[in-house]
Amino acid sequence: MEFKSELLDSPGYREALAAMLAQFLLGEEISFTAVPMGLEFITNEDILRQIEEQLEDEKRHHKMFAAERVRLGLPTVEPVEAMHRFNDVVIDRMRKRDIIGGVISGCFMLEGAAFSTLLTHCDTVDPKLSAVFKEIVADEARHISLNISVLRDIVGDDAAKMEALVEVHRETLPMLFSLFQSFQAINNELAVDNEWFTMRCLFHHSQRIRRLHLPNHIAKVMLTDTMAVAQSSK
Ligand SMILES: [Fe+2]
Ligand SMILES: [Fe+2]
Repeated sequence: MEFKSELLDSPGYREALAAMLAQFLLGEEISFTAVPMGLEFITNEDILRQIEEQLEDEKRHHKMFAAERVRLGLPTVEPVEAMHRFNDVVIDRMRKRDIIGGVISGCFMLEGAAFSTLLTHCDTVDPKLSAVFKEIVADEARHISLNISVLRDIVGDDAAKMEALVEVHRETLPMLFSLFQSFQAINNELAVDNEWFTMRCLFHHSQRIRRLHLPNHIAKVMLTDTMAVAQSSK
């Protein structure tokens, strides 16, 4: 689909774009703040090197989004409530050395949501911003894989840790869905089918659950929890 450059003159479109960039900017800030707080839990040299690379990516992403905001002449706006809550929850869990809770909320869910959003919205923004989204989404895919392997290492075969993971996932789902819902107004302005967007987010989330390689009955509980929150937040 060809981008209609006159959209960049539409106040509604610009407002939606500014709102979206505000979410991404805070998302990157959460990442580059939380990632160093998890370093002490990593013992594998190779993973450690990749996490350090992730940290550099997140700082670069923040600069890229900020530069796009300036290029497009967009105002700095407040991120939505759900993003502020993610910030509080992720940092609080990392501070309490709850690495499973921190990675589930900060990566599995938040970077996961960023992945689905960047992938969907790169088709509805101008070519330069689209190129930025595409570059960042490739990095986010790598970060998600990396952090899924961190989770798998930490949880291992430990039943108590699996239970903690399921619990923290269930506890954080409503916050994730309020983040998805906050995109409705943005999607309307950017001509993204909101139903399609939400389904895509859900689909990617379900795929990530599979990638944790947990025993089937545990993965099933996580999927059931996800579908329950999806239903109730319709
Ligand atoms: Fe990032
Ligand atoms: Fe990331």
